[in-house]
Amino acid sequence: MTILVTGGAGYIGSHTVLYLQQQSEEVIVLDDFSKGHREALHDVKLYEGNLANTVLLDKVFQENKIDAIIHFAASSLVGESMKKPLDYYENNVLGTFQLIKKAVEYKVNNIVFSSTAATYGEPKNIPILETDPTIPTNPYGETKLAIEKMLRWSYEAYGLNSICLRYFNAAGADPEGRIGEDHTPESHLIPIVLEAALGQRDGMKIFGNDYPTTDGTCIRDYIHVLDLAQAHYLAVQKLINDGGCDIFNLGNGQGFSVKEVIETCRKVTQREIKADIAPRREGDPAQLIASSKRAKNNLGWQPKYNQLETMVQHAWNWHSTHIEGYGSK
Ligand code: UFG
Repeated sequence: MTILVTGGAGYIGSHTVLYLQQQSEEVIVLDDFSKGHREALHDVKLYEGNLANTVLLDKVFQENKIDAIIHFAASSLVGESMKKPLDYYENNVLGTFQLIKKAVEYKVNNIVFSSTAATYGEPKNIPILETDPTIPTNPYGETKLAIEKMLRWSYEAYGLNSICLRYFNAAGADPEGRIGEDHTPESHLIPIVLEAALGQRDGMKIFGNDYPTTDGTCIRDYIHVLDLAQAHYLAVQKLINDGGCDIFNLGNGQGFSVKEVIETCRKVTQREIKADIAPRREGDPAQLIASSKRAKNNLGWQPKYNQLETMVQHAWNWHSTHIEGYGSK
């Protein structure tokens, strides 16, 4: 199969590219390197540019016989989206609109879309089911939800098959340490805690300890980035074999509080990590835990690295050997 991966140089994208290469699939990456890293890619056919560049999109579709698209390319910071909503609509919704238009034009009928738990907003029930209400509390979640709907209507009208994968909190890194997570600036919990363990920052802040949870800190469902990669591959296979249009949650169904994550990082790194209580971060739901039963039943997905300690260990292997990340930004 030939699979086009947009945003293939990003954190989840690059792990998916590596996974697909290990399955001996042909991979083409389209990335504008606004956030992604060239060093995360090896032996891959690369097109550099943005989805808004329709001339480049024509070139990609004309030069390759693409069987499926895995679409990661997007702006994905919740906090930033609150300050720059129109940038998010432009990059995410308009960018995907161009991609979908070209997919329909060139009859590339299968697309797996990188969606998010942020489509739910503040959940009514735990664990969260795909049928639960979607009321995003930030523009990032709104743009992802808008794209899900664009895909649903494109299926109805043009027969464009799609699977939207709503992931919870991606964590970990390639177990062999070849690639990992490198955001600038970093805003995600586990890399920040590990940077504190490495002495790259004085300590870290726990955003709020007055949530209605067991220890007062926010609870999240962490999922290994390679388990996400596996799900994308299974979703592509499902579309090629059965077609259709569907949405699946991807998580482990187990919640960990911010304090529990920090404790796990202390255990794995054997280092002291200073953590101070700070005010809540705007827009953070108290608790997000997925029910991934449908992904397991329909895709045959089985997370392989479902222990938080394993995720932290893999992330630590990467961070402790790549102090400057990929060193390119
Ligand atoms: N947190 C801290 N201190 C920090 C960083 C994070 O206490 O320095 C807390 C946050 O407040 C939150 C938890 O750790 O309670 C996890 O925060 P992350 O930023 O790592 O992840 P989020 O749950 O905010 O966001 C993730 C993805 C988003 C996605 C969202 C879906 O990064 O892209 O899940 O809910 F939209």
